[in-house]
Amino acid sequence: MFKRACFPRANHFQERPFMKNKLISSLLLLALGSVLMSATIDLDNLFNYANQDIPDYISNDNTDGNPINDKAATLGRVLFYDKNLSSDGTIACASCHHQDRAFGDPNVQSIGVNGLTARHSPRLVNTRFSREVHFFWDERAETLEAQTTMPIQDHVEMGYSGANGDPSIENLINHLEGIEYYNTLFGFAFGDTEITENRMQLALAQFLRSIQSFDSRFDEGFMQVSNTSEPFPNFTDQENRGKHLFINTPDAGTGCADCHNPPEFSIGIHSQNNGVITVAGIPGEIDLTITNPPSLRNLVNPDGSLNSPLMHDGSFTSLLEVINHYNNIPNNPANTNLDTRLTDVNGEPQQLNLTEGQKQDLVAFLKTLSGTDIYTNEKWSDPFNPDGSINIIGGTLGISEESLNPFISVTPNPVIHNATIETNLGHFKIWVYDNTGKLLFQKQANKQTILDFSSIATGLYFAKITTENGMQITKRILKK
Ligand code: HEC
Ligand code: HEC
Repeated sequence: MFKRACFPRANHFQERPFMKNKLISSLLLLALGSVLMSATIDLDNLFNYANQDIPDYISNDNTDGNPINDKAATLGRVLFYDKNLSSDGTIACASCHHQDRAFGDPNVQSIGVNGLTARHSPRLVNTRFSREVHFFWDERAETLEAQTTMPIQDHVEMGYSGANGDPSIENLINHLEGIEYYNTLFGFAFGDTEITENRMQLALAQFLRSIQSFDSRFDEGFMQVSNTSEPFPNFTDQENRGKHLFINTPDAGTGCADCHNPPEFSIGIHSQNNGVITVAGIPGEIDLTITNPPSLRNLVNPDGSLNSPLMHDGSFTSLLEVINHYNNIPNNPANTNLDTRLTDVNGEPQQLNLTEGQKQDLVAFLKTLSGTDIYTNEKWSDPFNPDGSINIIGGTLGISEESLNPFISVTPNPVIHNATIETNLGHFKIWVYDNTGKLLFQKQANKQTILDFSSIATGLYFAKITTENGMQITKRILKK
């Protein structure tokens, strides 16, 4: 039997007067929920995030201490798509990282709660398998975990910076604590309902690392010959010529693989910049810190179009422009950080002297690095309904009862009419949920309070108690 819970998104819910009647709204959302089953999260039938097939030729893995589990990755998916993570409720991670664009953005600069981002939003595919364990174009995030809450705390992007009048991440956590589905999902993922920045990071990073793409024509060919130097039987002659150019050093090819290492096609760890040093939206400004592009997989969509403009400033709108850049790297004396692999023996920027045919060969090869699954697979898709609500069914709350705690007592338990909650730890807050995670009541008290269960149905309930000193205890209460 399914336990059904359909949660409205908190802030949207209050805006609509006709939704005020709770009964009507639950019925409406329930009806909507059954129509839009595709947007339902079924906690008893999670998607496989943890045990996806990874080809054995993939050797990089930056998981390090935060292995994917399906429960936390499911929470990560909800967080990734939730506009509640931005200060004005309008922007989610997915507003700048679109699934149908390999989690990049077709815009040169993305729109955040307070204006345009300074850089272009990169695609987020195979982040788990990047050799470079730092993230962002300039590598300023030490780990993927650390990266995940930086956009939330960015004034422009999601606005919870805690500075200059912005709310802080603590304000965000308080906001999320008031949202029923997060009680359910944090409890489900971590065993209790506590929300912390660290837990958000773990869940978001797991979801991101799960976004993997190994169903490209390159993978198909590589599986057959196990050697990038061999022609791939599934490639056209042109694609094989392009592959040859890509993987060979400039004497025999173009040296791309020296930096964009196959088969991950992530950047090698000691890259400097590639000569693209302009700043989006600020003519004349230069930025010498760009060393870390995303994997070159999925540059193009399955329909053959570019997923998004390229480079940190989104200044390139075709693959041919990219090849032309590397063919003839501009000589800019202000660029003191050009990677030496892109200079000739005299230290001058490289001139590859490629023919038009060779350029087309490289373009054809780059297009073989795209898969199809990531663009549409439901496990990475938006779980919210168009009205902002979310349907969550199945599962148990995942709350574990603290076995013996001398400081908190619930009497009588089982309860028939009133339950007395007592603690010797001063002021405390109590939240009582039913076993679908629905919040029934919430109270503040000093040392003792009485909860009225007389009009509540029989069954199992959970009381989460937070004491003044930050201790959190969950108790089961049985109503008879
Ligand atoms: C307003 C647009 C915007 C939002 C919202 C946003 N991002 Fe980004 N994201 C960007 C931009 C721009 C960059 C590149 C910034 C830089 O490198 O300086 C980026 C970079 C990243 C990267 C680094 C990828 C790499 O290969 O180095 C990750 C991972 C990422 N974002 C995940 C997220 C997550 C998770 C969220 C939600 C918590 C999020 N983003 C919200 C625009 C956005
Ligand atoms: C010295 C290392 C190096 C070499 C060699 C190199 N690249 Fe790059 N590549 C980079 C860096 C660094 C960036 C990020 C630059 C930026 O965003 O401004 C990048 C960015 C790119 C991008 C844009 C990625 C995106 O998501 O926007 C493409 C495409 C690309 N390179 C293709 C190639 C090809 C093709 C070759 C060979 C002709 C090549 N690169 C050679 C370092 C290198």
